[in-house]
Amino acid sequence: MVGPDDTYQLLRNLTSPVVAITSEHGGQRDGMIIDSAIRASIVPTIPRLAMFIHKFNDSHDLIFASGRFVLHLLRQDQFALIRQLGFVHRRERDKLAEVPHHPGRLGAPVLDECYAHFECRVVNAMDTGSSTCFLGDVEEVGYGAAATPRGEVMTAAYFRANIPAEWRDDYLRLLAIAQTSGLELSRNIQPLVWRGVGPARDPASGARGPVEAP
Ligand SMILES: Cc1cc2nc3c(=O)[nH]c(=O)nc-3n(C[C@H](O)[C@H](O)[C@H](O)COP(=O)(O)O)c2cc1C
Repeated sequence: MVGPDDTYQLLRNLTSPVVAITSEHGGQRDGMIIDSAIRASIVPTIPRLAMFIHKFNDSHDLIFASGRFVLHLLRQDQFALIRQLGFVHRRERDKLAEVPHHPGRLGAPVLDECYAHFECRVVNAMDTGSSTCFLGDVEEVGYGAAATPRGEVMTAAYFRANIPAEWRDDYLRLLAIAQTSGLELSRNIQPLVWRGVGPARDPASGARGPVEAP
């Protein structure tokens, strides 16, 4: 019988690269760190990704309300940014005041320093109890303020192997808090219909409704 701790460690193999997420709504902006993003389309002309954002994170409400976010692949030399965005909540301080950024085409901030960034519009969402899984269509791609990508991508394995020793206690303490909050919320999964989701529009009439196969 495999116990919960061993199961959790096995599932950790599924964590994604460590990326930064930015969001903006009604003049409020935020930045956070996640390791739960994945490519969600195999069609090159429909670039799409999915990510899990915990409800107790301030970014969650900005993304939910605006339906927009930017995902940034990070470089292996960006540990300081992970600490700035991933260990503190926006309610404690305006984290992006310390991080160079510029407005993206969809309105959410784009970090100047990153490996690459993807500006996304939310096209669907699923409630998981403790988090929302957002499905985003990529509408704009770039390399932060640079013209080409630089360095190597910060993978989950690289992050875990090289996390500064002096952060480890904080990291484990925050993880334990998140796990406790997650335990309380995880079993309460609610149905969620994202705005605009439904049967495809008939391209001829523009009416919503089932589209007949040709
Ligand atoms: C390596 C790492 C991975 C993380 N992964 C996630 C994640 O997948 N989903 C999530 O909601 N929070 C994740 N977090 C936690 C948030 O980044 C953190 O709670 C942050 O302070 C939230 O900021 P906010 O409240 O301003 O949104 C991660 C943090 C770190 C350091």
